[in-house]
Amino acid sequence: TIDQKVSALLSKMTLEEKVGQLVQYSGFEYATGPQNSSSANVLNEIKQGKVGSMLNVAGAVETRKFQELALRSRLKIPLLFGQDVIHGYRTTFPVNLGQAASWDLKLIEKSERIAATEASAYGIHWTFAPMVDIARDPRWGRVMEGSGEDTYLGMQIGLARIRGFQGKGLGALDAIMACAKHFAAYGAAVGGRDYNSVDMSLRQLNETYLPPFKAAAEAGVATFMNSFNDINGIPATANRYILRDLLKGKWNYQGFVVSDWGSIGEMVPHGYAKDNKEAAEKALLAGSDMDMESRAYMAELPKLVQEGKVDPKLIDEAARRILIKKFEMGLFDDPYRFSNEKRQQEQTDNQENRKFGRVFGSKSIVLLKNEKNILPLSKSTKTVALIGPFGKETSANHGFWSVAFKDDHQRIVTQFDGIKNQLDKNSTLLYAKGCNADDQDRSMFAEAVETARKADVVIMTLGEGHAMSGEAKSRSNIHFSGVQEELLKEIEKTGKPVILMINAGRPLVFDWAADHVPAILYTWWLGTEAGNSIADVLFGTVNPGGKLPMTFPRTEGQIPVYYNHYNTGRPAKNNTDRNYVSAYIDLDNDPKFPFGYGLSYTQFKYADMNLSSANLKGSQTLKISVSVSNTGNYDGEEVVQLYIRDIFGKVVRPVKELKGFEKVFIKKGETKTVTFTLTPENLKFYDDQLNYDWEAGEFDIMVGTDSRNVQTKRINWLK
Ligand code: IFM
Repeated sequence: TIDQKVSALLSKMTLEEKVGQLVQYSGFEYATGPQNSSSANVLNEIKQGKVGSMLNVAGAVETRKFQELALRSRLKIPLLFGQDVIHGYRTTFPVNLGQAASWDLKLIEKSERIAATEASAYGIHWTFAPMVDIARDPRWGRVMEGSGEDTYLGMQIGLARIRGFQGKGLGALDAIMACAKHFAAYGAAVGGRDYNSVDMSLRQLNETYLPPFKAAAEAGVATFMNSFNDINGIPATANRYILRDLLKGKWNYQGFVVSDWGSIGEMVPHGYAKDNKEAAEKALLAGSDMDMESRAYMAELPKLVQEGKVDPKLIDEAARRILIKKFEMGLFDDPYRFSNEKRQQEQTDNQENRKFGRVFGSKSIVLLKNEKNILPLSKSTKTVALIGPFGKETSANHGFWSVAFKDDHQRIVTQFDGIKNQLDKNSTLLYAKGCNADDQDRSMFAEAVETARKADVVIMTLGEGHAMSGEAKSRSNIHFSGVQEELLKEIEKTGKPVILMINAGRPLVFDWAADHVPAILYTWWLGTEAGNSIADVLFGTVNPGGKLPMTFPRTEGQIPVYYNHYNTGRPAKNNTDRNYVSAYIDLDNDPKFPFGYGLSYTQFKYADMNLSSANLKGSQTLKISVSVSNTGNYDGEEVVQLYIRDIFGKVVRPVKELKGFEKVFIKKGETKTVTFTLTPENLKFYDDQLNYDWEAGEFDIMVGTDSRNVQTKRINWLK
C-alpha cells in the first residue's frame, strides 16, 4: 500500500530530508511576496533533497528541468508543482464571484475540469484553489476569488470546484490536487482590510465560516492552506484549535496543510513568535505541514528537534502526509508524467475551451434593471455607442490573478469586438473611452458626449480597474473608480437611452446609476471570451439568468450588510422605519440589491407553494414544491431559492437561511415544478456550547426568486 511505501521511504530519510519535504519555494521572484534568497541557492537545495515542492514553476519544459534536479538528490523524491489556478488557466473564465453568480454547479465544475486539464498539461500538480472563504464585506478585495456571502451556496460551489479539479481522482493525468483555502475565516478580516484580524465567537466561526471547509475535507480535497489572519488572537497558521482539534482531529483529515506565502515567518511581526525559530515550532506543533516561502522550517526544525522542542514524530507525520500525495499523484512511478510538451501544445489555445468560456461568461452576467425592456438590443439598431474605459480593454477583461494567461493582446475578445461582430453590417458601432479607469482626467469627456449624441443607444462600460479586486486590494470606497460616475452623469444628460455594464470583481456602490440608468448588467470580469459573452447577452442570444451571490449595499456605510442577519429585538418595520429600531437614521434599511437577486428578459410567475405537511415530527421529511411559469416572451433560466427561518431558539437564528436552490430552464409559455426536501439535518445549528443540533418548534419555509421576494408558510416540527 501507499502507506507502507511511505513508511519504507521515511525509514531511509535523514531528519534534513524529512524537513525538506515540508519546504516549498517559489519559482519567480516577487510574485506574491518578497523572496529571501537567490534562485541559485534554491536549485542547490533541490539537488540536496531539501525542497519538497515549488510554486510558480510551470510549463512542460520548466517543470522537467526542476524535476531533473530533484531526481539528482540522494533519495530521488520528486517535487510537487503548485500554482494558483483560480479562474481558468490558459483559457480564463469569469472571476470566481462572477462564476458564483451563475448558481450553476455543473458549469462551475466543468470550468475547473478544463482548468485542471490545461494546468496539468503545463506540468502543474496542484492548484491553490478553491477559496471557500465566506465574505460579507465587499471592501475586501478577495471577495473576487470566492463565492460570496452565503455558507450553503459557498459550500456547494466549493465542492463543485473540488470535483472539477480532482476529476476522476488523484493519479489521473488530468487531475490536479485542490486546496481548500484560507483556513480559516480570512473573509471576516476586520473592516474588510486584507490580512487583518478576525475576532468572533467560536459559534459564529463554526456555523458560518467553517462548513465549506468541513465539507471540502469530507469530500477528499487533497490539501488545505492557512490564512494570514489571526483568529481571536492566535494566527491561523499556528492555531491548534482549527488545525489539530478540528481539521486533523474531529474531521479526521488525511491530506496536508500548506502555509500561505510567508505566513509562518509573519507570526513574528504579528507578535505571536519572537523569531523564526519560535514561529516554526508553533506552526508545526499546531499542524501546519508545509512552509510556503518563510524558510523557517528548513532553517529551524532540525535544531528544534535536536533541542527536544519538537517531537520528531511530528516531522514524520507532516512528511508522511506530503509523501502520500506524491505517491497518489503517481510521481514515484513517473516524475515527469505531467511534463509533456505535446499535451501542453494541445492545451495552449484550446478552441473548445474557449467556446465553453463564452457560454460560462454569459451565464455569469446578472441583469439588475431593465426598464421598458430596453434590453435585449436589436442587432439592427442603427448607431450604437460604446463608451467607457473597459470597451477596448484587452489585458484587463480576463480579470485579476490569472497567472498562466499570457498578455499577448490577441486572445481576449474585447467588448468592442464582441459587440461589433454581432451588430448588423449596416449598423455602426462608435467608441469613446471617456476616461481612464482610475484617475481624475476629464479631458476625454467632451469627445464621449459628442459620440453619445450621434448614437441611438449608448452602452456605458464602467466599473473598477481589473487590478482593484484581489489579494491586497481592499478598498474603502467601492464606487466606480476615478471619474467614471461623473462621465456617466454627463452622458445621461444627452437624453440618450443608456445601458450600463458594470465590470468589477466585487459588489460596487452605484446608487445614482441604479436610480437613473434604465438598464444595468453586472458583467464582472468574464475572461478570455468576455466580449462575445457580453454581446450574446446584450443582443439576447443568451437570456441572462445570473443571481447575485452577495448583497449589494447602498453605500459603504451600510457594510457589512448580508441577508442572513439576526432580527434584533428592535427590527425595522419597513424600509424607512427609523423609530428607535435597528437602523441608520440617514439610510434606507434595505440594501440596494438583495442576495439572490437577478432579472431575466422574460418573466417568471410563482404559483403558491405546496408543503407535504404543516406539522412534522422527528425524522420526517418535508417536501416543498412550487410551480414556476414563464409568462414572458423568451425562454429563460430561473434560480428558484429555498430559505428557512427558525422562529426562536436557544441562540437567536437568522431571519433567512438558504437551504436549497435549483436552476431551471423554462421555455416561454411553459411551467415547471421544482421540489425541495428538508429533513431535521437541515435545521441544525451550533448553540453557545458548540452543540450541533436542531430544536423543535416553528419554522418559516420560504420560496422565491431572491432573498427579498419570497412566499412564506409556517410549519411546526416536533422532536
Ligand atoms: O495561493 C496564494 C494565496 O491565496 C495568497 N498568497 C499567495 C498564495 C500563493 O500564490
